[in-house]
Amino acid sequence: MKRVGPRPVLVIDFGAQYAQLIARRIREAGVYSELASHDVTLEEITALDPVAIVLSGGPSSVYVDKSPTLRPEIIAYGVPILGICFGFQLLARELGGEVGKTGISEFGPTEVIIDQDEGEIFSDQPRTQLAWMSHGDEVQEAPPGFDVLARTDSTAVAAFGSQSKKIFGVQWHPEVKHSEYGQLLLENFLFKVAGLSTNWSNESVIAQQVEAIRETVGSNLVICGLSGGVDSAVAAALVQRAVGERLTCVFVDHGLLREGERREVEESFVEATGVRLVTVDAESRFLGALDGVTDPEKKRKIIGREFIRVFEESAKELVQESIVEGTEYKFLVQGTLYPDIVESGVGSATAVIKSHHNVGGLPEDLKFTLIEPLRSLFKDEVRSIGRQLGLPESIVARQPFPGPGLAIRIIGPVSKVNLEILRKADWIVREELSSANLDELIWQCPVVLLAEVRSVGVQGDGRTYGHPVVLRPVSTEDAMTADWTRVPYEILAKISTRITNEVSEVTRVTLDVTSKPPGTIEWE
Ligand code: XMP
Repeated sequence: MKRVGPRPVLVIDFGAQYAQLIARRIREAGVYSELASHDVTLEEITALDPVAIVLSGGPSSVYVDKSPTLRPEIIAYGVPILGICFGFQLLARELGGEVGKTGISEFGPTEVIIDQDEGEIFSDQPRTQLAWMSHGDEVQEAPPGFDVLARTDSTAVAAFGSQSKKIFGVQWHPEVKHSEYGQLLLENFLFKVAGLSTNWSNESVIAQQVEAIRETVGSNLVICGLSGGVDSAVAAALVQRAVGERLTCVFVDHGLLREGERREVEESFVEATGVRLVTVDAESRFLGALDGVTDPEKKRKIIGREFIRVFEESAKELVQESIVEGTEYKFLVQGTLYPDIVESGVGSATAVIKSHHNVGGLPEDLKFTLIEPLRSLFKDEVRSIGRQLGLPESIVARQPFPGPGLAIRIIGPVSKVNLEILRKADWIVREELSSANLDELIWQCPVVLLAEVRSVGVQGDGRTYGHPVVLRPVSTEDAMTADWTRVPYEILAKISTRITNEVSEVTRVTLDVTSKPPGTIEWE
């Protein structure tokens, strides 16, 4: 599908998780933004045609060998630039300022004193404010032609800029909520320094996507794989708005679903959208392909491949009863999100963390052209668009559930028996967390079965030798970074008692207290 959307503010990623957050904050300000790797070429920049550029922070020091550098082409491109943290230091160096290794570092909330408001970047802000710092090196001299705009107790140059050049930099992280006036600083850069206007809202995304989908699909037919999750549901609803009856949704019951999932899709989604839905029973096919497989990446690849094969077969069958004679199911809709693309390392220098089943896991001889209307969106944007399209809360507010389903929550072989154990434990956890009103606090709570581990227990009067399960409740804004949720002890106790009483194969309930990073949310 051809590129749609307005010209972006390009956030150049120097290796921090913060880059995604910057892009989201810019969109929250109503301006479209995209991410690019630090080694983006001039041709790529020209193709993206950005209206402004933001240089992100990064874990590196400008003094470390092989640390990413700022390409002179980026400055020469001539659009307004904002450098943040490491991006600020790169900017200082590239423009002829001084960056020093002083041994003084600042981490966490720090008082910043604003001395000047060149170009209104600090408009409507107090002269003294708290900002989130995280740096070792420091800018010691602003580049020639730039004014020093702010300082801290230990850093003489905490911000510099020039309105005539439309280039600014700050040492702190305005994208982090702990920076009191961070969002306002970003907005001042966008609207006052760069003179941009808002161009990004639910309505504009829906309108742009609907038009692009219509144009791409023409008179062909479209198939959409529903997983029961928020993303595919919203993608389907968008495509349905664009092409109506030309869309058929296929829900693959791969046997890796949670309790109640199939019913939810077959009833609430169809009721809300009126979409044509076909359910395919593919349990034995998936379980057969996964038989004996324990490697997480292999599981993901197998599942990605089998999904596509099922869609291809369904498309062939569906064509027989096609609503429009002689047309083909040429397109496949996927609910791929922006973070899936970034995490799978497609088109960026980011390391591959996991092959998301719908990105890195696709077979090479794919017979469909993909339509991915959510490809540039973050999860919270998808939810908000889903609501705008009239989807029920039961679907839009659901906890994310990965396409590979329970298969990547069983550490060890995926068998019918293991799936049944996990399904029962997962249902208890969901029931208890919801009845304790914790759904809003918790982004998702995978329950993981350690199928290859056994531990001794005593249940009733006898010795048992079952498996542990792990509870993985996490709180996060976008799943890129996360913290473990402090679920109250009483609720944990209740969950533990219920699982060990009601699921005889489970002898132990444990809690995962690892943040992301270093742990990912899913165990596989
Ligand atoms: P991780 O485990 O990488 O997960 O911290 C981040 C978010 O992505 C979900 N996830 C997936 N979703 N296909 C999906 O549709 C996948 O292959 C996949 N792997 C992880 C995960 O549940 C979490 O919300």
